[in-house]
Amino acid sequence: MRPGPRSLLLPTPLSLSLRALLLLCLAPRCQAVQAENVTVLEGGTAQISCRLQNYDGSIVVIQNPRRQTLFFNGTRALKDDRFQMVLFTPRLVRITLTNVSVSDEGGYFCQLYTDDTHHQVATLSVSVPPDTPTVEVKQEAVEGGEVELTCLSPRSKPPATLRWIRDRREIPGVVSQQENGKTVSVSSTIRLPVERKDNGAAVSCEASHPALGGQKRVRHYRLDVHFAPTVRIIPPPGILREGDSLSLTCSITGNPLPRDVQWTRINDTLPERAEISGPTLQVSRLSQSHNGTYLCQAQNNYGRAADHYTLLVYENVSVTTMVLPTSHHTTSHPTILLLTHSYAPDPRGNVHPSLTLNTLLLSISPSFPSFMVTITRLLSDSPPLFSVLFLSPSLTCVLPLSALTFP
Ligand SMILES: *[C@@H]1O[C@H](CO)[C@@H](O)[C@H](O)[C@H]1NC(C)=O
Ligand SMILES: *[C@@H]1O[C@H](CO)[C@@H](O)[C@H](O)[C@H]1NC(C)=O
Ligand SMILES: *[C@@H]1O[C@H](CO)[C@@H](O)[C@H](O)[C@H]1NC(C)=O
Ligand SMILES: *[C@@H]1O[C@H](CO)[C@@H](O)[C@H](O)[C@H]1NC(C)=O
Ligand SMILES: *[C@@H]1O[C@H](CO)[C@@H](O)[C@H](O)[C@H]1NC(C)=O
Ligand SMILES: *[C@@H]1O[C@H](CO)[C@@H](O)[C@H](O)[C@H]1NC(C)=O
Repeated sequence: MRPGPRSLLLPTPLSLSLRALLLLCLAPRCQAVQAENVTVLEGGTAQISCRLQNYDGSIVVIQNPRRQTLFFNGTRALKDDRFQMVLFTPRLVRITLTNVSVSDEGGYFCQLYTDDTHHQVATLSVSVPPDTPTVEVKQEAVEGGEVELTCLSPRSKPPATLRWIRDRREIPGVVSQQENGKTVSVSSTIRLPVERKDNGAAVSCEASHPALGGQKRVRHYRLDVHFAPTVRIIPPPGILREGDSLSLTCSITGNPLPRDVQWTRINDTLPERAEISGPTLQVSRLSQSHNGTYLCQAQNNYGRAADHYTLLVYENVSVTTMVLPTSHHTTSHPTILLLTHSYAPDPRGNVHPSLTLNTLLLSISPSFPSFMVTITRLLSDSPPLFSVLFLSPSLTCVLPLSALTFP
């Protein structure tokens, strides 16, 4: 064979995708065969094409990579239904291969039997895109420790690229690859220090691959950081008196979240009327015998925690009034002394009752446990009652005005 002049080759864009044209000779009717390389996804259908030039009816043979004849001039030679001859024209012979697997890879021979036997090879490459990778955790993560996460893509070709991402930033991993026949198993391992605030934090592993284009197969993973419980009793607002109901809720954290909460009373048993439902302890109709320190406790495998609440049940308020003789007999400003019995300060120790008397204007000088109240102006149409409001509106004492005598 004499080498053909370069000018007879196909124009550049086409020749990129085509295997170089094999020129058999320079004469105008010289025959040529030309094969195209093919890349196809595993499971897909490959088209293997042989272009002919100046075909004169010679026998065309197509062989697989093991040089077994698939088609002998258009007639099936090998019993494999996945191969079909789809076209046989004087310009083009085309076969298809369905459900391509990696074992089908290799060079397919397009052979033209002439005086001089010539062939070209179409190389079939099979691309295996990765599945969504999996994430494996070596051992459970405990706060203050480290977690080791491995992202695994068991099968791809060429090897997938794995990237760990947290908060849109890449965490560099230690990558290893292992060949399994024609495909590759890829893994990427990272180690992260973990605190309890990291519990539930999202990390993800992305697999990219030429066959996926710009798409990525992403596995999302939430960190599971184990930590000892914390316990806090949410106290009821204000003060509690006999007859009130107590409701204490224990707010618990922890991973795993403690399943049981234990309520106890220090140095005593829980009141008979105590009802426990989940994290809540309820006692209806409080009495002073319920005074005490109540404890909420919870535990998991990583530790235990407790919080306490000291219950003080106050007596009901009772108020007695006394009208004091005023020093200024000329004024009509009676001063009332309210004597409270068992008046309870609010939890911060403040004493601040307020008095209302509708249209009456009052001045008040609190001095626990009694209050001096001076009525500074009495309107003629005032109702005959006034009320003393203590910390909670439910503790209103209503005093009949008629009980007061004005000097
Ligand atoms: C076809 O594939 C073979 C083997 O990979 C390679 O040597 C050849 O250059 C390829 N031809 C074209 C036109 O890409
Ligand atoms: C080969 O097949 C082609 C197309 O069917 C036909 O034109 C040609 O005559 C055949 N050649 C021989 C030698 O049978
Ligand atoms: C495709 O080939 C695989 C083995 O390579 C086989 O398990 C599968 O059943 C085939 N699928 C079809 C649709 O023939
Ligand atoms: C429980 O009893 C012990 C011993 O009698 C005493 O020292 C401790 O102060 C008590 N605790 C409470 C909260 O009453
Ligand atoms: C309960 O606590 C209140 C408020 O400190 C106190 O006045 C009362 O005496 C206590 N009662 C008993 C039975 O301890
Ligand atoms: C305290 O007041 C409540 C509500 O007014 C009442 O139900 C309860 O019996 C009173 N308790 C005592 C000991 O007087």
